[in-house]
Amino acid sequence: MLDTIPNKTFHLNGLVIDLHPEVYDPAEDSFLMIEALKINYGDKILEIGTGCGLIALECARCGAQVICTDVNPFAVQLANHNSKRNRQMLKGTLEVRGGDLFSSIKERELFDIVIFNLPYLPASNEKKVCGWLDVATVGGKDGLQVTKRFIEGIKNISF
Ligand SMILES: C[S@@+](CC[C@H](N)C(=O)[O-])C[C@H]1O[C@@H](n2cnc3c(N)ncnc32)[C@H](O)[C@@H]1O
Repeated sequence: MLDTIPNKTFHLNGLVIDLHPEVYDPAEDSFLMIEALKINYGDKILEIGTGCGLIALECARCGAQVICTDVNPFAVQLANHNSKRNRQMLKGTLEVRGGDLFSSIKERELFDIVIFNLPYLPASNEKKVCGWLDVATVGGKDGLQVTKRFIEGIKNISF
């Protein structure tokens, strides 16, 4: 059973999103990403690193068929919880999977759009990546380690 934070709930376009202390809270970067998206009904969308599921849910609310993933097991549980909570608001579909980057994506799955609000802060020498909130924000010693693996892996994803 996932313990969400009492009274820590976020609202957007009729969606009600519960938050969790081990999962990144939606912030300016998440909202910029949503603003930049142009979703068409029926679009097939992959969101890597979904966190609480807000971006994926907003895409599904607009009618997209969405698969989202996260490496953080708390995020996978939370996104599933938020998906169930908002089911009646979704014109499209949403499936939540766990795993690193594209590891849970099958060979023949096709996407129109792939989204990733990725971790990009450089790791400091003093502080190592040591919790799920660090995993959400820190991208290795130059900040680009996850970005490089994402760009490498996206070549194998079918559009
Ligand atoms: C900056 S947060 C963004 C969360 C959410 N998409 C948003 O915009 O509010 C980055 C997310 O990516 C996930 N993440 C980091 N590295 C990952 C990886 N290698 N594979 C899958 N997810 C990853 C983190 O667990 C975190 O949930």
